[in-house]
Amino acid sequence: MLIAQISDLHIKPPGMVAYQHVDTAAALARCIEELNRFAPRPDLVVISGDLVDTPLKDEYDHLIRLLAPLEIAYAAIPGNHDDRALMRAALPGQRYAQPTGPLNSVHTVGNLDVVLLDSTVPGDDHGELDAATLTWLDATLGASAARPALLFLHHPPFATGIGHMDEINLHNANDLAAILRQHQRARLVAAGHVHRATLTTFAGAAATICPAPNHAVALDFDARLPAALKIEPPAFHLHAWFPDDGFGRIVTHSVPIGDFEGPYPFFDGDG
Ligand SMILES: [Fe+2]
Repeated sequence: MLIAQISDLHIKPPGMVAYQHVDTAAALARCIEELNRFAPRPDLVVISGDLVDTPLKDEYDHLIRLLAPLEIAYAAIPGNHDDRALMRAALPGQRYAQPTGPLNSVHTVGNLDVVLLDSTVPGDDHGELDAATLTWLDATLGASAARPALLFLHHPPFATGIGHMDEINLHNANDLAAILRQHQRARLVAAGHVHRATLTTFAGAAATICPAPNHAVALDFDARLPAALKIEPPAFHLHAWFPDDGFGRIVTHSVPIGDFEGPYPFFDGDG
């Protein structure tokens, strides 16, 4: 099974760039081209928040037009730049677990349960899983002991060393960890928010941050530096699950977006 993750699209109204430097619409269009031509085709694309930038209805309308060429089913959760009501209205086909409030959902992909958690706090930038989401996650993971689960949420439940981002990460990570430890079937906790490829562990699972198709948050470990962005090579994550013994094996690949030389065979016919 292949789950592609794209994150932090930050779509603006048509014709506008983000942060005075970034054409996020063009970046998403290139990302979708890359996803459509990837073989074998991913089974699902997860969009892990910050679909738009302000948020405005115009931006969601623009986003929907930009997503139209994507030939793979997608599931989305909000980030701190999103608005739940605007997102529900813009993406009526999403199967959210609750009719109001947080935009949580679970998707069966072959042997996997792909669990999407809404970590947003309306009106604030940091993340927090509210009581309804924690209860729902506990019940969702409790529904099976045999299937591996992959969790997606916008806000990382761990610090990265980038101070201004760590201040607005998931503030109740301990509540999430307690539920994961109780059920023992999460194999991946995949976040966005930081626009960088990052790897650690969390509550016994691999934990990643997905890079963005547009700009990166500058890798500054000096907390005195102002928040800054850099135009680094764009990428998305491809989470591949292989059915080994037990819960199988999850391997995350970072896939650069763009046209590169090759592939060339390593060896010609003469060896
Ligand atoms: Fe974010």
